[in-house]
Amino acid sequence: MKIEIKNLTKIYPRGKKKALNGVNIEIGQGIFGLIGRNGAGKTTLMRIVATIMDATDGEIFFDGKELKANKDEFRSSLGYLPQSTKLMPRMNIVEFLDYVCILKGIKNKAERKERIASVIETVGLVGEEKKRLGKYSGGMLRRAGIAQALIGDPKVLIIDEPTTGLDPEERLYFLNLLSKIAMERTIIFSTHITADIEHLCNNICVLEQGEVKYLGEKAEFINRINGKLYEHTGSQYEEEQLRKDTIVTSVAYVDGRPRVRYVAEAPLFDGSVPVAPTLEDSYIYALGGVKR
Ligand SMILES: Nc1ncnc2c1ncn2[C@@H]1O[C@H](COP(=O)(O)OP(=O)(O)OP(=O)(O)O)[C@@H](O)[C@H]1O
Ligand SMILES: [Mg+2]
Repeated sequence: MKIEIKNLTKIYPRGKKKALNGVNIEIGQGIFGLIGRNGAGKTTLMRIVATIMDATDGEIFFDGKELKANKDEFRSSLGYLPQSTKLMPRMNIVEFLDYVCILKGIKNKAERKERIASVIETVGLVGEEKKRLGKYSGGMLRRAGIAQALIGDPKVLIIDEPTTGLDPEERLYFLNLLSKIAMERTIIFSTHITADIEHLCNNICVLEQGEVKYLGEKAEFINRINGKLYEHTGSQYEEEQLRKDTIVTSVAYVDGRPRVRYVAEAPLFDGSVPVAPTLEDSYIYALGGVKR
């Protein structure tokens, strides 16, 4: 499914500034990565696309159809996993998914049973059916959330920061799961961890203070600073100079000396070596450099 977001603006009733300010994004099939700092507007954007909340201005189209005028049709092909989900702690996964099916209007009991078994298998919770959700680990809960979002076999999945708080193993499992279910679906997922989208998404959007800082291919995004990124291990004085005169994408202290990665047309100091940019470098560059 193709989703077009046009000139989307959101001002919260008691918000001081625009949470979204004239955002334009086109999203096609595959996994689309929405990345940005805390407060960038990721959740706001996702809630509006998920029809949970109205925008102040702007329009959204899915396959050419206006979203608000066709809400029911869109919702029937949508799965949404909010940033913070409180699943029913006293239910087990089967009871919970049965409840979700009923809310979705799936009346046939045999059909519910079949769907539930199928999504439990997809998200790898086979054998955990009897445990109450209140006893699930963070990673298992996230999988249960995906199971809930998948139950209606949606064409569009919106997943808000699914990897936050997961241990490395669970995080990798979850990312693999996403790539598995991405076939023939449109998945929009948000994160502030560049590594999450490193292997998963071809197309990304960088949001900052409600505005699109970058939209397009991930490879192109990384390439923007290709040939302009240097690494310099030197003195504190040099670090200060680099912070002043270039855009610094990272500072690490190695044996007490700062190792600075910076973007410049030419190296500033002898001893600076050109390095290949990572997604993280490009991301920090797009946000204007590292903070102190
Ligand atoms: N209900 C609300 N009322 C007023 N302002 C809000 C509300 N929800 C969010 N905001 C503000 O809107 C801006 C965008 O917030 P949003 O939650 O969309 O960011 P985010 O990118 O999802 O951040 P995070 O990574 O922390 O989840 C922030 O400045 C936030 O303070
Ligand atoms: Mg958020």
